[in-house]
Amino acid sequence: MHLHKYEKIWLIFGMASLVLFLLIIGFAAFWKGTHPQSHIETIDPQNVEAHDAFKPENLGIREVADGKYIVNIVASAFNYDFGKDKEGNAIKTIRVPKGSTVLYQITTKDVVHGFQVAGTNVNMMVEPGHISRYETVMKNTGEFTVVCNEYCGIGHHQMFGTVEVYE
Ligand code: CUA
Repeated sequence: MHLHKYEKIWLIFGMASLVLFLLIIGFAAFWKGTHPQSHIETIDPQNVEAHDAFKPENLGIREVADGKYIVNIVASAFNYDFGKDKEGNAIKTIRVPKGSTVLYQITTKDVVHGFQVAGTNVNMMVEPGHISRYETVMKNTGEFTVVCNEYCGIGHHQMFGTVEVYE
């Protein structure tokens, strides 16, 4: 078989790139221990209440230090559970002051959901059996809609909430 000079160059270039990329992935995965964010901590999806963060009384927002907050959420078809207020009504709006650091912790009881706070950089997959975490600084004021961006069934569009960042 005769290979043209340029074909040879491209073949070598292609092969070398492939080997290089595989080496980079291997280095990141096996040497640096990089893995999907949600694989850090597992949880029993049938019994999420057994985990401290997802006990009904611990859902919603909590100030843990000056300007630092944790928001615990349980996703299920078709609702985001942010806990209940004093009257026993489901909380749908999370309020944080501008510039605060917020750690979102979320898990799901059933299927895969996509937790996104539209207009911010909060956007993570929520998988049954895993806890997804993301910490960010809420830099801009406004009302940001929480949506589910992973089709999870007939009531997918009913999964929503609001994060209000005030001055
Ligand atoms: Cu939950 Cu779509």
